[in-house]
Amino acid sequence: MTGPAAHAGPPPTAEAQKGWRHVQRVVCPGSFDPVTAGHLDIIGRAAGLYDEVIVAVLINVTKHSLFTVDERIEMLGQVTSRYGNVKIERFHGLLVDFCAANGITAVIKGLRAVSDFEYEMQMAQMNYRMAKVETLFMTTNPLYSFLSSSLVKEIARYGGDVSGLVPELVLSRLRERLAEE
Ligand code: PNS
Repeated sequence: MTGPAAHAGPPPTAEAQKGWRHVQRVVCPGSFDPVTAGHLDIIGRAAGLYDEVIVAVLINVTKHSLFTVDERIEMLGQVTSRYGNVKIERFHGLLVDFCAANGITAVIKGLRAVSDFEYEMQMAQMNYRMAKVETLFMTTNPLYSFLSSSLVKEIARYGGDVSGLVPELVLSRLRERLAEE
């Protein structure tokens, strides 16, 4: 068991805590279409805190994406190659099922602003309710608190400058892909 059986009730006793498994492997889930400097900041900080970080790319066939899942995974692999404890995977369906299949007990999410909080809180509580998967929130570096993959794509599409907001590799892939449109 990874934590208390329910949110309600008194805090766990020291005796009960002895049975808890400490989180060593965490997941950073997302669409990563494409990976931004904000994502990379969270992944890098998570890699400093945990033994193993799995970056899980959601396969979402209903959502139009600029990059294929394979392309996103390849870019993520390259930009995280400096971290020996980061692995890139793909998943579809429920995140909690991916966690169960991979022995993951906690999700790491970056929180940019209060606007992120409501939906993130809802997902976190639902994931805990479904499978006792914990969610750990990390505050985004203020340099990137306004940043999202969607905005990056929109700005780049209309010729705006997104350098510094995405890794260099992603910048050149963005330019190539948008030139094809
Ligand atoms: O980068 P995104 O698109 O904001 O990431 C959202 C993601 C992938 C983390 C979220 O949509 C998710 O976990 N999807 C998997 C499906 C799932 O488990 N849904 C129930 C959430 S309570």
